Amino acid sequence: MIAKQTQAQGSQSQTGLSGRVALPEGGATGYQVRVTTPNSFRLGILGSGKGSNFVALADAIATGAVPAEVAVVLSDVEDAGILARARERGLPASFIAPGKFRTKLDEAAEAAFVSALQEARVDLVVLAGFMRVLKGEFLRAFEGRIINIHPSLLPSFPGLAAWRQALEHGVKVTGCTVHLVDAGVDSGAILGQLAVPVLDDDTPETLHQRIHAAEHTLYPACVAALARGEMQVQGRRVRAAVRHGAGPGTLP
Ligand code: GRF
Repeated sequence: MIAKQTQAQGSQSQTGLSGRVALPEGGATGYQVRVTTPNSFRLGILGSGKGSNFVALADAIATGAVPAEVAVVLSDVEDAGILARARERGLPASFIAPGKFRTKLDEAAEAAFVSALQEARVDLVVLAGFMRVLKGEFLRAFEGRIINIHPSLLPSFPGLAAWRQALEHGVKVTGCTVHLVDAGVDSGAILGQLAVPVLDDDTPETLHQRIHAAEHTLYPACVAALARGEMQVQGRRVRAAVRHGAGPGTLP
């Protein structure tokens, strides 16, 4: 694991022994040195597309802004860019056939995704452009530990092409939302949001591009806050969602 991190995170310690050294209470006489890696919060990332949010997260992990590690990347699309981006970084990445349905996983596929994530001992499942709705067994296996990023300020414009919905509705501000995944469509508790103004001459493409750029700031900031144990979820209310202010892992 340390070797994998060193390979994937070239700018970090060359030895991989960059962890915290813990001394026992009572001083240093006859102590045992215990080295723990700082990146013990394990992410399982699921995507179906090009994987720019995965890249933003992996880059933020490499700089130390997000105290986590990518344990596995999984896709329902064999030639998805996200798998190629993960393999370039030396991270475990697998295609799992989604089965016979178009918008959800069939039972066997769902079981295969769940066991791959369990085998990788993930703490958090991060959906990064995963184009299938997750159902019962999957949600139960990782209850409260699945997050998604959506390209609008929820609860406005859930579902597909949210940037186009926002533009056509005529809102002046839209943005992106990181939320917990529940059984509904883009309906779980909101962990963080970032606003993006809608400009008079925006097209769906220009607006989508700016929202996408905002996602690359918001997602790492939210994952960092979760990895640091800074988020408290009470029903729909989430405290200390993300840090604001200058610095790594924060929002502007
Ligand atoms: C993003 O727009 C995200 O909001 C949506 O899926 C897209 C994924 O893009 N859930 P990428 O594959 O991370 O570039």
